[in-house]
Amino acid sequence: MLQWAQLFRVLECMHAALSCGAYMTKRDIYYRDVALFSNQRTVDDMVDRIAITLNLSRTQLGVGATSKGLVIGPVAFARERPRRFKQETTLIPDPVQGLSVYAKVDWVLVVEKDAVFETLTAHAFLDHAPGAGCLVTGKGYPDVGTRWMLTQISQQCPT
Ligand SMILES: *[C@@H]1O[C@H](CO)[C@@H](O)[C@H](O)[C@H]1NC(C)=O
Repeated sequence: MLQWAQLFRVLECMHAALSCGAYMTKRDIYYRDVALFSNQRTVDDMVDRIAITLNLSRTQLGVGATSKGLVIGPVAFARERPRRFKQETTLIPDPVQGLSVYAKVDWVLVVEKDAVFETLTAHAFLDHAPGAGCLVTGKGYPDVGTRWMLTQISQQCPT
């Protein structure tokens, strides 16, 4: 019975998100009903099973991953090209959100550790480095959003 209740709750969340063109993360679904799911794993498994059963990707189901990658530099996530780039640390969104990546960089530096990213940012690394560059961290193994952003930047700024 519990599994059915969980299944329908997940489907309900997916349906609600898809019908208003929004998107939600597995984490959002979990927090909708912590008492019912009891842990994040339950939601993750349920989403995977639904995706396999319906032969649809997580993206097609409107479920994004929780973003964790960070970037600082002339990179923006928007529907239209921004007039100017803000120099502030930005959370890299999941591609499910349907935003485009706009970048104007000569180089990209990817650091594995969040702590290294924080230290370099605190010392205004970008202001001292030559040319226009951006600093990226996936906070460990890079997530889908971080890898997607890097692919987009390498296509836009091939040199
Ligand atoms: C699952 O989806 C893929 C891609 O849309 C398609 O090529 C494949 O035939 C589908 N499989 C089944 C069993 O429907």
